[in-house]
Formats: sequence, C-alpha cells, structure tokens
Amino acid sequence: MTDTGRVDALLAELTLDEKLRLVRGRSDPSGHATGYLPGVDRLGVPPLGLVDGPLGVRDREATAFPATLALGAAWDPGLARRAGRALAVETRTRGHDVVLAPGLNVVRVPTCGRNFEYLSEDPRLTATVGAAVVEGIEGAGVAATAKHFVANNQERRRDKIDAVVGERALREIYLPGFRAAVDAGASAVMTAYNRVNGPYMSEHRELIEGVLRDEWGFDGVVVSDWWGTHDAGAAAEGGLDLEMPGASPLDRLAPHSRALRAMLRLRLSDRLGVDPPLSWHLFDRLVADDGQPDPYPYDFFGDRLQRAVVDGIVQESTLDRKVRHVLGLYERLGLLGGGRPDSPAVDWETHHELAREIARRGTVLLETGGLLPLEGNESLAAVGPNADEAKVGGGGSSEVTPTRTVSPVAGLRERAPRVTFERGVRRVASPSMYDPPGSGLRRRLAPKPDFDAAVDAAAAADVAVVVVQDGATEGEDRDSMALPGDQDSLVDAVADANRRTVVVCRTSGPVEMPWIDDVAAVVQTWYPGQADGAALADVLYGADPGGRLPVTFGRRFADYPVGDDERRYPGVHEHVHYDEGVFVGYRGFDRDGVAPLFPFGHGRSYAEFGYENLTVERGGERDDGTALDASVIVENRADRPGREVVQAYVEPPPAPGTVIRPERELAGFATVELDGGERRRVSLSLPRGPLTRYDERDGWTVDPGEYVVTAGRSSRDRRARESVTVD
Ligand code: BGC
Repeated sequence: MTDTGRVDALLAELTLDEKLRLVRGRSDPSGHATGYLPGVDRLGVPPLGLVDGPLGVRDREATAFPATLALGAAWDPGLARRAGRALAVETRTRGHDVVLAPGLNVVRVPTCGRNFEYLSEDPRLTATVGAAVVEGIEGAGVAATAKHFVANNQERRRDKIDAVVGERALREIYLPGFRAAVDAGASAVMTAYNRVNGPYMSEHRELIEGVLRDEWGFDGVVVSDWWGTHDAGAAAEGGLDLEMPGASPLDRLAPHSRALRAMLRLRLSDRLGVDPPLSWHLFDRLVADDGQPDPYPYDFFGDRLQRAVVDGIVQESTLDRKVRHVLGLYERLGLLGGGRPDSPAVDWETHHELAREIARRGTVLLETGGLLPLEGNESLAAVGPNADEAKVGGGGSSEVTPTRTVSPVAGLRERAPRVTFERGVRRVASPSMYDPPGSGLRRRLAPKPDFDAAVDAAAAADVAVVVVQDGATEGEDRDSMALPGDQDSLVDAVADANRRTVVVCRTSGPVEMPWIDDVAAVVQTWYPGQADGAALADVLYGADPGGRLPVTFGRRFADYPVGDDERRYPGVHEHVHYDEGVFVGYRGFDRDGVAPLFPFGHGRSYAEFGYENLTVERGGERDDGTALDASVIVENRADRPGREVVQAYVEPPPAPGTVIRPERELAGFATVELDGGERRRVSLSLPRGPLTRYDERDGWTVDPGEYVVTAGRSSRDRRARESVTVD
C-alpha cells in the first residue's frame, strides 16, 4: 500500500501549477514514451513514462509477443502471469514505469479491429487471464493499465459512438474483467473513447466514481485514452485523474524535427485565436479515419482546468484528489524516495522463447483430419501470400518492432526435409500506423505471384501448408469475416491439388471458411508474434498445443448476436444498441439455436481424453457460501502426452418472471498435462459469479433451484454432468 503520509506532505508543498503538471501529460523529450509526465523536480518527483502495450513494448526493439487473444486461447493464468512479468521487465528496461496493458474489452463484434488485443468473448475467461497478466506486471514493479474502461467493443466510430447498454449486461459481461484487474492490483485504468449511455467514458461519473472507486475501492490512477477528453469540468468532476497525452500529435513528433519545433514555438493557432485549428477540422473531415480521436484541443487539464479551479468552478480539493492518486502511483512504484528501481537486463533470447511458448500454447487445432501431427519425413509445400514473414501483430498502438522474427517458411525449414515456397496470390497488407510512407505502393508494385506455380508446388509435395491471414487494425473494423484478397481461391485450388492440406489461419478472430470440408486440417494461430514459424513447426510436428477457442467461430457474420441488425452493429446515428443484452458470443448462439462452425472452448488434441466421476459440492465453509467445488477424473486415453483444458459450465435454473438467463456459462477451468494413459482428478473451484445474475433492482441475485454443472472439452462438448440444489 502507498505511504499516504509522504503523499500528503508532498501535496501540501505543491503550487497550483505544479499540481496541474501532475494531471496532464506532455511529450517525452526523448521521444520514447507513449505518455509522459514531467514530474516536479523541485520536490524530487521524477518524470514518469507510460508505454504501449499490450503485445509488447512499443519503444525501439522489444519482444513481439503473440496477440492477447492467443494468450486468451491458452486458458492458462500461470502462462499469463509470466507474459505479464516479461512485458513489465521490458518496460523497465526501456526506462518506463507504466505499461498500457492489458486490453480487457470483451469481444462482442467478431470483426472489431482490436479483438486481437483482447482476451475473449467470455467475462470469466477475460477476468481470470486478465487478472493474471496484471499480477505479472505489477509483481515486477511496473504499473498495469486495464483498458479501455468500458464498452469499447468496436473501432468503427469509437471516438463518438454511444454504447447504449443495459446495467445487467454491463455488470455480467463487460465489467467483470476490469473488476478482476482492480482486485489483482492494477495501478491504472484507462477510460475508453466512446460514450456509455450518454456521457463520454472520460467523464463518466457513475462508472468512474460510482463503480470503480466507491464500489470496487480502486485507489489508482484513472487515465484518459489518448486525446479522449472533451471537457475540463466534466472530466474533472467525472473522476478522471490524468489527461493523456496532453500534447498535440505534432508536439509528439517535434523531438525528431527542428523545423517542426520551430513552427510549434510560433504557436500560430493560439495567436490567431483559432481553437481548435481550422486546418485540423478540415483534415479530420476530409482525410482522417472516422475511428480516430480528434487530437485538438488536447489540453483540457492545462489552462482550462486551471481557469476552472481559479474561478471556483472546480474545487481545488477535486484537483488534490487527482494529484493524490498520481502521487500514490509514484509511491507504489518506489519513485518518491529519490532514485529509481534498477532497470533489469532482459535476456532477449529467453523472452523470444517465451513468445514461442505462448504462440504454441495459444494455437488451436480446429481440425487435425488424421493428418496432424506430421511424421517428420514429408516434403512440404508452404503456400500463402505472406508465409515468408512472421505475423507479429495487428495495426495500431500495439505495434511492436520485434527483436527478431521466424516466418512459417523458416520455421518449417528447420524441421522438414524439403520445403518449397510459393506466394500464390498477392501479399496481404499488415496495416500499420507507423509504416514509412511508400511501403504500400512498393507492395502494390511487386510482381504478381504465380497462382499456378503454387498449385503445382502443392501437388508435388507430400503435404501442403497454406498460410492465410487477415489485416486487422486499431481505428477500424474488418469489413467482413472473409479472408482478404484471393486467399479463399488459393486454399480451394491447393486443396484440389493435394488432399493432405493444412490451412494455418493467422487471423484476429473468426474468418469464413468456405473450404472447410475440402481441407484435411486447420490450425488457428491468431497473430503469433515474432516466434511465429518456430511455434507453428512445434505444433505441426507434435507438440500438443492445448489452445481452445476464446471466441465462437460462427459460419458467417449474420450468425452472431450482433449480426444482422444495424442498431446492434455498427449502430445508427452514433448510437450502438446492445439489444442482445447478456447474450454475447456463445450465450447468443445457444439462445438462438445457431450451430457455430467451431464452438467457444473448442480445440482438438493429439491425445484423446475421457471424463468420469464429476462431483460437485457447495463450498459452504468459504465467505461466499454459494460457490461450488467441483472435481472430475480426466484420463488421457492415447499413448502420447497431451494437454487438456477442463472446462466447467453452469446451467442455471429458470429465473423468475420474464428474466431469461444464458443456457450455460463458463464457471471455471483448469489446464492439465497428462502422459499417455495417465488419469488424474482435476479440481475446479467455481466462484459465485456464474451462479448469480444481476437484477437491476436487487443487484446480484442467486435464484434458488437446481444448477447443473458440466465438465468437458468445450461449451458444446460436455462429457460429465452433475447437479446441485441451491436454496
Ligand atoms: C489506444 C490506446 C493506447 C493509446 C496510446 C490509443 O489510440 O486506444 O490503447 O494505449 O492510444 O498509444
């Protein structure tokens, strides 16, 4: 806990100007940090650096870890804790104090551009894995930032859209991940760009002061998303502590350009009294993407807040509270005693291996088709527009410059006796917010790949491995669930030429798979990060990955609960209505009786698992009297080791009146590794959450009746069941 004595003593010394310096970011003079606070040198408060997150550290080179969604797919809090720790160590090594991770928004829209930065469509999986990431980061002396609080579930018009969402859905689906992060000790929470039921999140008193502070007891820093503020008074009273970045995009580039610095010194727009600059408005209208925030004006917590305090519109005590939160963060990080914690040396090779382990463990074997694992002596045709490059991530603030990369072709060449490579179709662009100008043009001018040569190569090899991908990015959603370009035709043609075809999907989520019945195997590797090809080879050659789908793979967009209703997505007149309520992801598929292509929790194994003897008991002795203790015997019936994710779902009794509950909800899970023939009793403690529903009048409610607990391999592959009566 923080030393409030020291924080209070400092606060008493600060002038109004100095207080204001602690609640608004500036640009980092070194140009390295994503967000920067200059501190107050006079009182020994040093500068503070914040850096993106969440796939790796966005500053110079760093380990490009797999997408957060891949970590979600590993269903393993222990692995997530290690990932968090590694991210924190690299944050420190690069000289920063706060990492802008993890991303905890629930996957509501399957094509949302940032799904790869989030963990799952399920609140419990999000909460469990997200909390572990937070523990890993905070345990290494770095502040974690749970983002984006809350209901930032699409990129399309994210800067303006109002998420009209009922309290029950907020409580049951969208908030639990943030609650778990707070309970796990997250030092910061970032508000989302969007509005929720009216107010912008950066000024949402009910959710910031009411829920986050008062109900959950959060005493860390509430930071805005970058340029996500709109009004000094509303943000100040709403509970926002820290405005970021507090600098214009030009300021942020200024350290790199003398001419720009000179221009900024002229402060033309201030002198001409144009605020925000007309030119920016024009740019925003005509050129800027509609998902990006308006970076002008950017200093609500600068002069405007000062004026509001001086004029008595905002009480100075309100500002003091913010400063106390910010100084509390400094104190927690050990930055107030003079000096800084040592920057640990990173063993980049060990982190590369961790990136490989996460990529492997997050891989989901959608179909193995009797083809996988490979034996080792087959010749391979590696086909696919980008198979010769690692897919290190999506576009946006999470982009990382990797320390090194292993492409699928390179990874396979380490193992297979012979690997040919043909692109087949034009490269799929990986959108980037930081690409040097001209790189798109270079790609377009590249010679057209030879489709027929790819098909011939596939026909000539023992096995064809087709690597496909999408190109998701922050700031916009994918147009559809179809693979971009001609990749589907390529898969079709290769599958025609060689029935031993494996498709490797490097995508940010579900894609349509019109060829699903024609290929032998499909492997989902998400965005696997810098160790991509090494992890892929591990899996194809027999490492049982253990990944399970953290999101439902529907056959088409229209099958999703948000699918064919504009109100639900992308919204009408800047309002997106969460009319599906709590029926997000598999909860919606179950209710609507729609068969998914691959259900939530699905993932094949190279082993074969049996389930027996599920027992369920009321965990009456604990504080939370209605939690359940379950255990089940799991047997590996194969003659090879395998990894199983044992998943427990709860099916509630009918709720009274007109309330409809999901048919089943994930209640707990455990990952086990079993040798061939090994049997083990696996224990799962199921917390109160999944037994309860949120009632808008009575709050969290447990309906009396019979609760059925199932244990099994996915939300639709349930192997054992047992019921328990709760009264
Ligand atoms: C993103 C945040 C990110 C911030 C700083 C914003 O555009 O939404 O997730 O941390 O930029 O780069």
